[in-house]
Amino acid sequence: MTTEGMDLDRHPVARSTDVADTVPVIDIAALTGSGPRHRGAARSAAIDAVAAACRDWGFFQVVNHGVPPALIDGVWRETRRFFALAAPAKQAVLRSRGNPWGYYNNELTKNQRDRKEVFDFTSDGVDPIYGSTNRWPEGLPGFRAAMDGYLEACARLSLTLLGAFCAGLGLSPRCLHARFRRHTGFVRLNHYPVRDPLADADLPRLPAADMGVHNHTDAGVLTVLLQDEVGGLQVYRDGEWHGVRPRPDAFVVNTGDMMQVWSNDEYRAAIHRVTAMRDRDRYSIPFFYNPSADTRVEPFAALLGDGRRPRYRAIPWAEFRSLRTDGDYADYGDEVQIARYRS
Ligand code: OGA
Ligand code: NI
Repeated sequence: MTTEGMDLDRHPVARSTDVADTVPVIDIAALTGSGPRHRGAARSAAIDAVAAACRDWGFFQVVNHGVPPALIDGVWRETRRFFALAAPAKQAVLRSRGNPWGYYNNELTKNQRDRKEVFDFTSDGVDPIYGSTNRWPEGLPGFRAAMDGYLEACARLSLTLLGAFCAGLGLSPRCLHARFRRHTGFVRLNHYPVRDPLADADLPRLPAADMGVHNHTDAGVLTVLLQDEVGGLQVYRDGEWHGVRPRPDAFVVNTGDMMQVWSNDEYRAAIHRVTAMRDRDRYSIPFFYNPSADTRVEPFAALLGDGRRPRYRAIPWAEFRSLRTDGDYADYGDEVQIARYRS
């Protein structure tokens, strides 16, 4: 079923609490560890569970993921500190059209305004897509180290998950590793306030920020996300929105557009959204895992043949990513989607 052109936000929120109707929780100890107890049956079972979740939901949660709790506590602490800074300190690291790294509070997703403020950063050094470097806030001594360590841990976890995604398609678990040697993944700190941060701004024709994040798919390969206990993240499946229940011991994982293309639609990039906060502010921390800048993403040859034709033309990753970022600034027209590359 195609969802293009439908107003998905009019669809109902699922009432069922049946386990079969909720995003699966998968124990991935067998994928992250080493040694004999991590081989064999437990490993295959974890891969099968991941592959089934990628096909059915495009969303799942992972527990026993191996990311040290101290790293996670640190990134939460620094995230709350950052958003608690006075507005001028955040404005001092405002992102710009040429350099997307830093703070922003008026993001447009499909040209609608979201009720959130964000801070984006990537790996150290000059990033190969924009040719720019991270902006770091003043006055938060532990911020940068916590963020750098967290990004690295997320990249490691993501590579493990990518291996499972590939194995789940019947391919070698390492078949994509070479395309991620200089990955262009990045971390986003999200703050969803109850109060619209631009409520007092004197801006003409400012659209209402009636969602935390409007419905969208993530552009990259996969996303690993920490959410706090507030809730509000929902995934679209079979005509309904399903809440992703907060679990303090889990990362939420979802597939993105590039995984849909590589898998020739066997895995679908999951449509998701965040509702606007009513009672409490919410925080979340996604890591978007993306291939090296020069990667051309196209359906795996091994998945074609026997009447299966490629459904997409090759997509130059750097171009797709920068078009998507441009869409954040556009106040008219459509954001780039993979449908544009359908063959
Ligand atoms: C995103 C996103 C979900 C969340 O930032 O792309 O979907 O729970 N975030 O904050
Ligand atoms: Ni998203």
